[in-house]
Amino acid sequence: MNIMVIAAHPDLHQSRASKALIRELNKHADIHIRDLYLEHPTWQIDVKKEQRMLLQHDRIVFQFPFYWFSCPPLLKKWFDDVLTFGWAYGPGGEKLLGKEFMIATTTGGTEACYRSGGENTYTISEFLRSIERTLTKCNGTFLPAFVVYRVTQATDADLANAAEKYAEFIKAPREVLIH
Ligand SMILES: Cc1cc2nc3c(=O)[nH]c(=O)nc-3n(C[C@H](O)[C@H](O)[C@H](O)COP(=O)(O)O)c2cc1C
Repeated sequence: MNIMVIAAHPDLHQSRASKALIRELNKHADIHIRDLYLEHPTWQIDVKKEQRMLLQHDRIVFQFPFYWFSCPPLLKKWFDDVLTFGWAYGPGGEKLLGKEFMIATTTGGTEACYRSGGENTYTISEFLRSIERTLTKCNGTFLPAFVVYRVTQATDADLANAAEKYAEFIKAPREVLIH
């Protein structure tokens, strides 16, 4: 399975959590990791190139820090620009049929605050619904998300441990993730 991870952190240099996740993935030669912000300093996205890369991979993971209950803005722009009518959706837009998509995110909030009755009322999956529907409208399969909670309080060892689980998770067959 060809896996591409599109990491969208506005300031990866200052990151602890995303950096730890990427550090672990770098040990896996079969995972193609990209830094969306580094590749697009002017926010001009080469749509044809991105679409070509999507076609070359079976599973695409969008990795980002959870910002205001959503993804950072360049990733939203990437969705807006790359998932075009007639290519990703609409008449003849079936190029992503059979592709698997996954979100990997890190939060400041605890797991307990992401639930009904908790501080943030909703689960991460509920907050991710607009991205889920975007990708299923584009004929993709949306897999369960990988979430690392409360990273702001995590030790380096906690993050390294989470990162090992992350690498395992994103390589797991669909049947293992959906049951
Ligand atoms: C602009 C901004 C918005 C944020 N919004 C949220 C949020 O909605 N929910 C949450 O749990 N954490 C939120 N956080 C905390 C980040 O998710 C957390 O700092 C990040 O996952 C840490 O990862 P890093 O070490 O890779 O930067 C926010 C942080 C920033 C800077």
